[in-house]
Amino acid sequence: MSAELIAELQALEAEGRELIAAAQGPTELGRVSVELLGRKGRLTGVLRAVGALAPGQRPAVGAEANRVKAALTAAAEARAATFTGAAPPAARLDLTLPGRARWRGGLHPVTQVVDEICEIFRDLGFQRVGGPEVETTWYNFTALNIPLDHPAADMHDTFFLGADRVLRTHTSPVQARVMERFQPPVRVVVPGMVYRRDPFDASHAPGFEQIEGLAVDEGITFADFKATLSEFARRFFGAAARTRFRPSFFPFTEPSAEVDVSCQLCGGSGCSACKGTGWMEIMGAGMVDPAVFENVGYDAERYTGYAFGMGPARIAMQRYRIPDIRLFYESDVRFLEQFA
Ligand code: DAH
Repeated sequence: MSAELIAELQALEAEGRELIAAAQGPTELGRVSVELLGRKGRLTGVLRAVGALAPGQRPAVGAEANRVKAALTAAAEARAATFTGAAPPAARLDLTLPGRARWRGGLHPVTQVVDEICEIFRDLGFQRVGGPEVETTWYNFTALNIPLDHPAADMHDTFFLGADRVLRTHTSPVQARVMERFQPPVRVVVPGMVYRRDPFDASHAPGFEQIEGLAVDEGITFADFKATLSEFARRFFGAAARTRFRPSFFPFTEPSAEVDVSCQLCGGSGCSACKGTGWMEIMGAGMVDPAVFENVGYDAERYTGYAFGMGPARIAMQRYRIPDIRLFYESDVRFLEQFA
């Protein structure tokens, strides 16, 4: 009796293997598996007869039934894997796991500040333009009224690429390039990288962003200059922001000023971020020096204008209280993803 059942199980195994191998797709395989191994399947049918055996004969038949069941199950799984190209059963996709978020990247915090600043100036009538990072000494210095042997040229520790070629030390040369190509009225902002032989420390980087601004037309006055930059500060730093213009010196502006904005962190009462002064410097600026107009062929009697230059990385440091400028240039994702 038990030998018969064991033979029957082995025949079922052989036939089952053939049926599984012949299955042409997941649906057919599913149907075959149920037929062989399901609760009302053929293996179950054979096992029903085990009840009729003498107790001493049951274990041998039971063990053979388990082996056949495991063998057919494995054969069906292996066949299923050939349809899906899926990994072996143990590594199969677990649909109950929480999804893994995809890293999407994002704009660099300084890029975000640059875009925000340029958008404000766009609303004030300024067009965004660019210029080359490799410059001639003419555009970088001479056209801007900075003689090469003048100490003002030392203010910028320059990377020279050749006798007459430099990595631009500021975005101001684009002022001259724009004025050579376009007649007034001109209103541009120029974001871009600039390079200086500075130590790479908490407050200096050898390459950093600047945004240059230039407005030239007939009848532009110092009042237009102050009003435009004050309005920019209110839009960027908030309605409560106050500005002040301190006398300064740049060879390409006369008069020149440094523009401070009331400290965003203490509102002007004085804190560690503003070193107790209540003010933060945000840019250099001034009325365009007539010598620059002459260098680019503008009629200095007819036109006036103002220019400004700011460092968006410094502004981002103030805004987000970043203590070390190197964080912006080290590409550490743990830092950058906070701004994504
Ligand atoms: N080019 C100056 C610098 O890099 C910044 C600057 C000052 C730009 C005054 C200007 C300006 O246009 O009017 O330090």
